[in-house]
Amino acid sequence: MDLGLSGKAALVTGASKGIGAAVAIALAREGADVLAVARSSANLEAPGPANSAVRAGRIFSFQADLTEAAAFDAVHGEMLRLFGRIDILSNNAGSTKPGDFLALSDEAWEQGFALKFHSARRLARTCGPTLRAAKGCIVNTIGIMSRTAVIDYAMGGAVNTSLYHLTKALADLGVREGVRVNAVNPGRIATDRREQSLAKIIDARGISRADAEKELLDSCGIARFGTTEEVASAVCFLASERAGFINGAILDVDGGQTRGL
Ligand SMILES: NC(=O)c1ccc[n+]([C@@H]2O[C@H](COP(=O)([O-])OP(=O)(O)OC[C@H]3O[C@@H](n4cnc5c(N)ncnc54)[C@H](OP(=O)(O)O)[C@@H]3O)[C@@H](O)[C@H]2O)c1
Repeated sequence: MDLGLSGKAALVTGASKGIGAAVAIALAREGADVLAVARSSANLEAPGPANSAVRAGRIFSFQADLTEAAAFDAVHGEMLRLFGRIDILSNNAGSTKPGDFLALSDEAWEQGFALKFHSARRLARTCGPTLRAAKGCIVNTIGIMSRTAVIDYAMGGAVNTSLYHLTKALADLGVREGVRVNAVNPGRIATDRREQSLAKIIDARGISRADAEKELLDSCGIARFGTTEEVASAVCFLASERAGFINGAILDVDGGQTRGL
C-alpha cells in the first residue's frame, strides 16, 4: 500500500534510539525526508525504500535538548532551512521513570513534564503555522498508562494523560486549521525500558531471564512484547494520506493489554 508519504518533510523527536529511531527510519523508508532530533546524534542508517514505487527519504540528525526553551525555534528553523516545510511532527522524546510515589522528588516531576509534555506542547505551538501551511499532521507517542492509573507509575501516567488531553484538544483546533492530530499508545515494547523492567525482576527474585520475561508478560496479560517497528508502522499510517479522515484518535499498540473500553 502506498502511504503517500514520499517527499513529505517529517520532524521526529526522541529519534536517537527506541521508538523515535524506528519512526524516523520507517518514515524515510516510505519516502519522507526526516529531521531526527535528540540530545545525541541519531546516526541512523538511511533505509532502503519500502517498495519500488517510492524513493527512500533522507535522514538528517539535529542535536537539541528539548527541555530548553531555545531548542524549539532552533529545531523549527532547521526544518525550514532543510525542507522549507513541515508535513509531519512525530513527538517521541520522553523517558518518565516509574518509582515509589512517596520518594519521587519535585525535580523528577518537573523533568517528567518538561521533556514529554512540554516539548510536545511547545513544538505544536512553534511549528503550528508551518504545519497549517502544509496541511500537515501531528502524531504523538504517548503510552497506555495514559488510560490506566497505578501508583508506581503515577508520574508517567500523569504526564501521559496530559499529553492525551492535549492531543484531543489540538485535534479540535486542527479541525479549523486543517492539521490532523493523533497519537499512539505503546504498551510493552522491546526497548531499553523493557530491559530495565526485566533487570528489576531478575534482581528482586533471582530468576532466569526467560522466567522474568514470562512473569512480565503474564502480569501485563499479553502473549509477547511489541517491537519498535510495530509502533512506527502505526505512526506512519496515522501520518499518511490513508488516515486522512482520522483526527483525534489515540491508537493502542499494546498487543491487547488495555482491556478497558
Ligand atoms: N518503550 C516502551 O515500552 C514505551 C511504552 C509506552 C510509552 N512509551 C513512550 O514512548 C516514547 C519513546 O520511548 P522509548 O522507550 O523509545 O524511549 P528511549 O529509548 O528512552 O528514547 C528516548 C528518546 O528521547 C531522547 N531524549 C531524552 N531526553 C531528551 C532531551 N532532554 N531532549 C531531547 N531528546 C531527549 C533520547 O535521546 P538522547 O538521550 O540522545 O537525548 C531518545 O532518543 C516515550 O515518550 C515513552 O514514554 C514507551
